Amino acid sequence: MTSVAVVTGASSGIGAATARRLAAEGFHVLAAARRTDRLAALVAEIEAAGGAATAVACDVTSDESVAGLAAAAAALGPVTLLVNNAGGARGLDPVESGSVGDWQWMYDVNVLGTLRVTQALLPALEASGAGTIVVVSSTAGFTVYEGGGGYAAAKHAQTAIAGTLRLELCGRPVRVIEIDPGMVRTDEFGLVRFDGDAEKAAAVYAGVAEPLVAEDVADCIAWCATRPQHVNVDRLVVRPLAQAAQHKVHRVG
Ligand SMILES: NC(=O)c1ccc[n+]([C@@H]2O[C@H](COP(=O)([O-])OP(=O)(O)OC[C@H]3O[C@@H](n4cnc5c(N)ncnc54)[C@H](OP(=O)(O)O)[C@@H]3O)[C@@H](O)[C@H]2O)c1
Repeated sequence: MTSVAVVTGASSGIGAATARRLAAEGFHVLAAARRTDRLAALVAEIEAAGGAATAVACDVTSDESVAGLAAAAAALGPVTLLVNNAGGARGLDPVESGSVGDWQWMYDVNVLGTLRVTQALLPALEASGAGTIVVVSSTAGFTVYEGGGGYAAAKHAQTAIAGTLRLELCGRPVRVIEIDPGMVRTDEFGLVRFDGDAEKAAAVYAGVAEPLVAEDVADCIAWCATRPQHVNVDRLVVRPLAQAAQHKVHRVG
């Protein structure tokens, strides 16, 4: 039977690119997010390209919704891969004045979403005999920057989940892989962060010749996930050539 790969946050950006790529690698992709119209279009695109995919509405902040995701996955076949990608940033305010609501949202989606979905799918991943959990954290998972306190706190927590889980699962047939992208230009990440302000969102990438794009990160995820099962890439940090560190970005003009 075809292996099932569950991708959360598959309705846009890195998640959608990962769904496309994993389908091309031969997985049956279960594409999860809240916006089902986008998922339906993605599934149609994957099927037109000869791949297999199924859409499922899922809000990773809801126990009931995530239980539905796990049931949908188990019904499709052996679940060998989970990509915890749903997440994002809200705001770029100093800790001094940051919105508690924004911090709450970031913690709920990035951290507790990853926890909830991982707990729900772990039995099926283990039962497959060769499971893989990917956690899409960020370079903000190990570095802080001004204005990024809430996002960095959430991504540090996600990174802590990945590291802890790898220790706890040692000896069981499930590997844990953390992907830490730097600057990736996706359509919505900046819009979500800046509450729909396209100018502010675009300014993040101003003068950067070639930020990463979603397909670059999908490529990293697919590469890690398709290594032989005994090979565990603990953590993959990937940035554009123009970004040597969080604060060191080469901009032209
Ligand atoms: N772009 C970057 O520079 C960058 C860098 C490092 C790490 N990352 C991380 O990479 C991941 C993807 O980012 P992206 O750039 O592709 O952003 P994006 O295009 O905004 O995608 C975020 C995805 O998360 C989903 N999502 C949000 N809230 C959700 C919820 N409650 N339940 C289920 N799904 C939810 C969204 O789908 P719905 O709204 O349809 O639910 C969307 O598909 C995030 O974890 C982000 O933190 C991004």
